[in-house]
Amino acid sequence: MARIGGNQLCRTGIVSLFLGCAVLWAPVVGHSDVATPKIPAAQGGQCVEPVEIMRRDHFDFLKHDRDKTVHEGIRTIKHSLAGCIDCHATKNASGQFVPINAEGEFCQTCHTYAAVKIDCFTCHATVPAVKMSQSP
Ligand code: HEC
Ligand code: HEC
Ligand code: HEC
Repeated sequence: MARIGGNQLCRTGIVSLFLGCAVLWAPVVGHSDVATPKIPAAQGGQCVEPVEIMRRDHFDFLKHDRDKTVHEGIRTIKHSLAGCIDCHATKNASGQFVPINAEGEFCQTCHTYAAVKIDCFTCHATVPAVKMSQSP
């Protein structure tokens, strides 16, 4: 009994280790035979960093630039969260922006897949800001 238990424990450990790797790698590798997240396409030009770097390090950039803005009052930042949303938000059939953290949207697909939870959008807008002061 004890041997079976230990064996099961070990296998569970190996399995979760493997799953951990799979979760981290799958969005990067993007094999079509695995259930990888479907990432909505971006608008506008190039991303703020090369795509493979963004996949890996986007949260470090975001946190770094948040600290700059919130603690030092610097707003001319490269990795603005508002900027991510400007390019990565999508519109629905009636031309309305869909919240970036909604089911299947850019900041949500990978995170569901990787079991990441972020609280950013309790404060930050989930759709691009409407330009109010601009002349038509
Ligand atoms: C409790 C509210 C709150 C939460 C939660 C929060 N922020 Fe912020 N964040 C702010 C405020 C307030 C500012 C300052 C906005 C300004 O002055 O432009 C800011 C600024 C920023 C900026 C710089 C401005 C910009 O548009 O990019 C970044 C980047 C940022 N936050 C990222 C994040 C990320 C990533 C998360 C989640 C991990 C997060 N924030 C969660 C309130 C919040
Ligand atoms: C000027 C437009 C623009 C801005 C601003 C922008 N991106 Fe991107 N991003 C892109 C484009 C274009 C791609 C390439 C993939 C595509 O076409 O959808 C991309 C790709 C990515 C990817 C890889 C997606 C994948 O397919 O694996 C991540 C992650 C990402 N961006 C995160 C961010 C984050 C986080 C921010 C804000 C700090 C941001 N982006 C700001 C345009 C932008
Ligand atoms: C290509 C897939 C992908 C996309 C698209 C993506 N993320 Fe992530 N994100 C991840 C993964 C994977 C992690 C966990 C990485 C880790 O923990 O090593 C993560 C982690 C984070 C974290 C850190 C969470 C924590 O607990 O520290 C923040 C903040 C974050 N993402 C913000 C965003 C925002 C904002 C967007 C949309 C602009 C976005 N992400 C889009 C894959 C993605």
